[in-house]
Amino acid sequence: YQFVQVSTPKKGVGLITLNRPRALNALNTPLFLELNDALRRLDSDKSIGALVLTGSHKAFAAGADIKEMKDLTFSTAYATDFIELWSTMSHAIKKPVIAAVNGYALGGGCELAMMADILYCSASATFGQPEIKLGVIPGAGGSQRLTKTIGKARAMHYVLTGDTWSGVEAERWGLAAKVFEGPEECVEGALGAAEKIAGYSQIAVKAGKEVVNKSQDLGIREGVEFERRVFHGLFGSQDQKIGMTAFSEKKKPEWTNA
Ligand code: HXC
Repeated sequence: YQFVQVSTPKKGVGLITLNRPRALNALNTPLFLELNDALRRLDSDKSIGALVLTGSHKAFAAGADIKEMKDLTFSTAYATDFIELWSTMSHAIKKPVIAAVNGYALGGGCELAMMADILYCSASATFGQPEIKLGVIPGAGGSQRLTKTIGKARAMHYVLTGDTWSGVEAERWGLAAKVFEGPEECVEGALGAAEKIAGYSQIAVKAGKEVVNKSQDLGIREGVEFERRVFHGLFGSQDQKIGMTAFSEKKKPEWTNA
């Protein structure tokens, strides 16, 4: 790949690092084609249980590539379903993705981070939806995910002013699950959490991700019913027997992912 780096720094963990440093990881089509390919490969790799997505210390991603978008017309945007390419991570990837956000996460960079299942950041990270300054609005789910997460009052303020907020605020408002002192700690923290998740039954992890995500689309009653059906389904897995037997016998479970 040219714009992403892929490695396996810990057992069961796939790390994708956005790597377009001279443009602060601005997200263009070639980068997204590579990112999606890397995500799909790791998602279908049986030895991988969780993914981490990060950028550099200076920028997770400074947004969609403004230079690539500048001359886009309505008809081309509509005909090519511009931005649909961005939905792979949020719609097609079944394994958990942890975003480790350092530096700038602006516009599409903030939206990409919010598509992850878990968001970790460093205290000095800079989040924002500054599209308004360019004469547009968020286009990759920012207005929806931000509003659901930090509430309408704050989301409206940030989408309409283009002001930025810090990693400390992101954690305080529930956008980030954890905030770390610096970039290294943030990436290490994300890798550690991913390693922990990768050590569990992949079937149970997949089900856990699915039911939590469903809560974003369903009302509480249907959501609880959906959860119960998926829970019932897990009694058809070997790993449920393995996990509960191991507990009863005071042993460590050896998952089969079946
Ligand atoms: C294209 C970008 C870019 C972007 C930075 N660069 N952000 N190129 N698209 N989003 C490029 C710069 O042009 C410059 O290239 C190089 O990266 C370094 O950036 P500088 O501006 O020189 O760095 P700095 O002074 O440190 O300022 C950092 C910054 C600023 C505050 C992050 O770059 C900035 O404001 N970027 C734009 C942020 C933004 O508006 N994002 C939202 C984009 S719209 P050269 O060649 O000059 O050295 C969006 C829409 C999403 O995301 C909707 C759906 C996808």
